[in-house]
Amino acid sequence: MDPRPAPVRPDLVAPGTTPALFDAVLTVAELPEGSMRRVTRGDLDILLAHTPDGIVAVDDRCPHMSAPLSLGTLDGCVVACPLHEGVFDLRSGEPVRMPTTGGLDPDGRYRPTWSPAGKAPKVDPPGLKAEARRLTRVRRFRYYPVRVVDGRIEVALPER
Ligand code: FES
Repeated sequence: MDPRPAPVRPDLVAPGTTPALFDAVLTVAELPEGSMRRVTRGDLDILLAHTPDGIVAVDDRCPHMSAPLSLGTLDGCVVACPLHEGVFDLRSGEPVRMPTTGGLDPDGRYRPTWSPAGKAPKVDPPGLKAEARRLTRVRRFRYYPVRVVDGRIEVALPER
């Protein structure tokens, strides 16, 4: 067997496997404390959040089913998704509240479906959809390095 790796097209390199360069994305004035903004570079949507603990950059995709968190709400260091009631801590990357659909938490533990107060409990759909919900894992955030230089917020993004 030939031990050499198969050649791959250079444009099919996985994100994050090439060096990251800091890129100015916003000014600090454009992101006052308590606010969130989405910035897009290529096919990468980044959520910038100005929390009481500082500015963080993560994917603008809910760790549950990828809804844009920039459309949610920020309360201190905690961001709420506009879908499924999921709530996530930007300091730890952990879910504070699992989505209503239930599923697996970041450690792979099953969490059941639930309903907000005053709403009728959701009946799990039968078959493949229920199985997909049960096996959907809420992952932890992936963070991008952030720095502030001369009033500009710079984020280290993987080369595309
Ligand atoms: S997509 Fe965010 S909680 Fe489901």
